[in-house]
Amino acid sequence: MTALDLYSKVEHLLGIEESTAYLHTLYTEVLYNYEIKNLLDVGCGTGGLMQTFKKFDINCDGIDLSSLMVEKAKAKGLNAEYKSIGEVDKQYDAIVSVFDVLNFVHPDELIDFLNCVHKALNDKGLFVFDVNTLYGFSNVADGVMSAEEENLFLTVDAQFKDNQLDTKFTAFMKNEDKTYTKEQSVITQYFHSLQLFKKLKNFKLIKSVYLDMYDVKDKALIVLQKV
Ligand SMILES: C[S@@+](CC[C@H](N)C(=O)[O-])C[C@H]1O[C@@H](n2cnc3c(N)ncnc32)[C@H](O)[C@@H]1O
Repeated sequence: MTALDLYSKVEHLLGIEESTAYLHTLYTEVLYNYEIKNLLDVGCGTGGLMQTFKKFDINCDGIDLSSLMVEKAKAKGLNAEYKSIGEVDKQYDAIVSVFDVLNFVHPDELIDFLNCVHKALNDKGLFVFDVNTLYGFSNVADGVMSAEEENLFLTVDAQFKDNQLDTKFTAFMKNEDKTYTKEQSVITQYFHSLQLFKKLKNFKLIKSVYLDMYDVKDKALIVLQKV
């Protein structure tokens, strides 16, 4: 199982439903001001935001690098695929990456990722995403927690150091014969300076606002427009 697939198996125990719903409402409000006919959700997860946009008659595609996430989105009747942004060969009025997806991208690969987003956008297309701030990484994400349900016990141990958050997920899954299977993975997220997004030559910065999700200014929402 990949690290992202283990994340998919335990996400429901992390207590992030409220913040996910908050972000989905925010993205809906931002994009409501534009005429969007089709949209790509990069890092779509289980497809919550795609479900919302479908209600507004927007054609939505989603991609994710966890096959388990893609299966969950497809089970909801959504058009999701296991694919990287570099493999996308269509163009969209808007692309979104919701809830830290860009923090999963290594700094050395970020410009390449953004260039692929640019290629997949129509003229003047929008890229809307959120990233963790330094404060969010060190004061909110860093720390330990545990959670459990009937057949699953989870520990999460996250450490932020040198602009990098390493989160170790350890899951004990109860088998039918009452033994346990242990699955362990580390997911790394990277801090990206907001300055980088302001200086891009092929995008115009439309909006950059701090969000108070769990604390004060722990995330930032960015809207870029293709030029
Ligand atoms: C915190 S979850 C957010 C899921 C979803 N956007 C939401 O709002 O519920 C991050 C998602 O990004 C996916 N992901 C991480 N890096 C990715 C990449 N480079 N391309 C596509 N998906 C990625 C993960 O598999 C995971 O589903």
